[in-house]
Amino acid sequence: MARHLITSALPYINGIKHLGNMVGSMLPADVYSRYLRRRGHDVLYICATDEHGTPAELAAKEQGLPVDAFCAQAHDAQKAVYDGFALAFDYFGRSSSPQNVEITQHFARRLKENGFIEERAIRQVYSPADGRFLPDRYVEGTCPHCGYDKARGDQCENCTRVLDPTDLIDPRSAISGSTDLEVRETKHLFLLQSKLQHEVEAWVAEHEEEWPHLSSSIARKWLNEGLHDRAITRDLDWGVPVPADTWPELAAEGKVFYVWFDAPIEYIGATKEWSDLEPENRDWKSWWYEADSGDNPVRYTQFMAKDNVPFHTVMFPATELGIREPWKKVDYVKSFNWLTYYGGKFSTSQKRGVFTDQALEILPADYWRYFLIANAPESDDSSFTWEHFTATVNKDLADTLGNFVNRVLSFSRKRFGDEVPAGAAAGEPEAKLGEEIARLLGEYESQMEALQFRKAAAALRALWSAGNSYLEEKAPWLEIKTDQEAAALTLRTAMNLIHLYSVVSEPFIPASSAAMRAAFALKDDTAAWVTAEEARSLDAVPAGTPFTVPPVLFAKLTEDDLAAYKERFGGTPAA
Ligand code: 2FM
Ligand code: ZN
Repeated sequence: MARHLITSALPYINGIKHLGNMVGSMLPADVYSRYLRRRGHDVLYICATDEHGTPAELAAKEQGLPVDAFCAQAHDAQKAVYDGFALAFDYFGRSSSPQNVEITQHFARRLKENGFIEERAIRQVYSPADGRFLPDRYVEGTCPHCGYDKARGDQCENCTRVLDPTDLIDPRSAISGSTDLEVRETKHLFLLQSKLQHEVEAWVAEHEEEWPHLSSSIARKWLNEGLHDRAITRDLDWGVPVPADTWPELAAEGKVFYVWFDAPIEYIGATKEWSDLEPENRDWKSWWYEADSGDNPVRYTQFMAKDNVPFHTVMFPATELGIREPWKKVDYVKSFNWLTYYGGKFSTSQKRGVFTDQALEILPADYWRYFLIANAPESDDSSFTWEHFTATVNKDLADTLGNFVNRVLSFSRKRFGDEVPAGAAAGEPEAKLGEEIARLLGEYESQMEALQFRKAAAALRALWSAGNSYLEEKAPWLEIKTDQEAAALTLRTAMNLIHLYSVVSEPFIPASSAAMRAAFALKDDTAAWVTAEEARSLDAVPAGTPFTVPPVLFAKLTEDDLAAYKERFGGTPAA
């Protein structure tokens, strides 16, 4: 039994996430966590909302709420959706927690002591009317390249060019609209990443062979371009304050850390939030501080979309290396490409695509969980279309799995009553089936262990299909006419497959798995997983076990459903 620390990229607080966000981080992390827990490992799956930065301030402003009240409410709204998706976090924290403030400030102090943080004076836009320096996004004006008059100081949304606030023509404050802006000198903290380049390189070199190509190639690209010193403070009201004991002047000016400095530290902060709820039973440091983890080392796996890879493979490791304390660093970075919507971009700001709350309004979580993981953008981008979604649900979930379950249980009840029938002893077809199931189970396990989600889904689907092939071959609806004992054996074997499916499908479709498992009134049904031997013998559910027929597991989606989805969400990407 190993200890597995698992984190998924922290979703920004501003707004409910779309399906593309879900498939690239939280959902695969949940599937993997559930799988490892069932295999008996000690798993800690941590996530949190990423609450700092200008997007949070701006979203709060838009809703007319103080930023702390906005974040509290938006955190609960996101958590409710994740509960709906059955994401079994051990803890879902908040980057604005006191725990994160404490650990972030500690990290900053240590980096300074070790010579990796220094104060530098920079020139920045100041708004006397607002009484504050304006971060890039808070300055608006006309784009010097395309003339768009609502360009932001960091980027023009119209022509996508990256800008500096001083490039803008007729600049104004995004807060008050004031055009009375000046450029003033102000001090900020800089993280001297350039000094850590070699150490980060050596650390990446130790891991990149094992990582997926997507993760290592992005890490290499950033390292090859060279690590630059970066400003890690901002002039915002909301964020982790610069500690006054170390930088009194900057603290007095109200500087806070840049959101990307404190966000990854919240992986640790959230673990402490979890631990602080039950300090006698939970030891956050044993997961994070290598000196305290004893002879039971932790394996740490992170999940994220590709835009987050530089921060997790290069920038955050640089921070951790510069601290000169043995904090746990990531072992495996599982990264994903984009899920597109009809080949175009899912976009939170432009409300294009399917959002996670809307998805749950339409269909239960298991439909989405299965479809998304079976089509995860692992080796390339993958496209969401309603045609593909409805066809997959109908074929894999309704026809292959759901129909098998209902057909077998209903038919057996009709012919043999409410208990699993005994029938003849297992013969050649059952032995062959057992071999095939054991082989496919082994394939499924290897793919899960390799974090190859699409391939794991394919192996799971093959397990479901093997049941259908067996049933077609034995045809109990014909056997029953001439040989009751033979028909009973077939049904008993098929019922054992249903039980096996309920166990091994749980990481993908937890609610449907629970329904399958609950069909059998087994006295002692606590096993978390199936051994190869059990897969071969298919006799965990003995004759005489009472059973019930669960409601239809997966509804078949009709042409009308498809038309309605396309009507509501649009069936083609915006130009
Ligand atoms: O890209 C994002 O959605 C960020 N909020 C991810 C942060 S991950 C971590 F480092 F906190
Ligand atoms: Zn422009």
